[in-house]
Amino acid sequence: MKTKNLIDVKNLSVSFGNNIILNKINLHLSKKESLVIIGKSGSGKSVLLKCLMGLLKPKLGSIKIDGVDIVNTNRIDKENALKNIGVTFQNGALFDSLTVWENITFKETRFFGFDKKAAKEKALSIIQNLELDKNILELYPSELSGGMQKRVAIARAICDQPQVLFFDEPTSGLDPITGKIINDLIYKTVKKLGVSAITITHDISSIDNLASRVILLDNNKIAWSGKPNDMNKSKNNIVMQFLINK
Ligand SMILES: Nc1ncnc2c1ncn2[C@@H]1O[C@H](COP(=O)(O)OP(=O)(O)O)[C@@H](O)[C@H]1O
Ligand SMILES: [Mg+2]
Repeated sequence: MKTKNLIDVKNLSVSFGNNIILNKINLHLSKKESLVIIGKSGSGKSVLLKCLMGLLKPKLGSIKIDGVDIVNTNRIDKENALKNIGVTFQNGALFDSLTVWENITFKETRFFGFDKKAAKEKALSIIQNLELDKNILELYPSELSGGMQKRVAIARAICDQPQVLFFDEPTSGLDPITGKIINDLIYKTVKKLGVSAITITHDISSIDNLASRVILLDNNKIAWSGKPNDMNKSKNNIVMQFLINK
């Protein structure tokens, strides 16, 4: 990575028809930072992340990833910039017709020419750090528990050593105990790999463990941003409404 801010977003605006979702959002992600985005359902958290992944083109604004504005550049530069990012989608979203090892090494086999043996070895080395047993490598996602599916999704995201990881609701659909284990795993993985992360969550209890900085989306804008500690002390109405549910 060349620039100080791995991600730099300026004046990002997204609408669907007349429906304004995000209005002039500014945010950045610096090295080794773990940014957590919260906000009520429908506030545009996933839309924001999809823009950062290059899956959705905003109406206005710029998104610089390592200095490259992925909104206003050509396809090749955009794809190269996006190679720095590993993603787990909301609901895990594994490929259900592929085994665990095929899921984890999807990019390696598809784009980087790994053969079966090399891919399986790679998958094995990744899952060992995620407290997964090697016996699951040949299983299909439907044969795994919800918590294991999330771990496999994390394994896929980190497989080709990205600089930035995105997690969209990594604990949704899990019981609270498994959710906590997954949050801890994300925290450990981010720290161990020395990468930066953006995590979207509705799980307020995970903030203290996961976030170095928090952004609260509300009413198409960033309503509050700061450190988890300051959030607990904040007198901001919208923040306080959120913390009641903590
Ligand atoms: N492709 C789309 N077309 C139209 N509306 C969309 C689309 N994607 C998301 N939206 C709308 O944008 C709003 C924000 O969605 P989303 O970012 O998924 O919310 P959340 O904060 O729960 O992740 C919602 O009102 C949703 O219906
Ligand atoms: Mg969402």
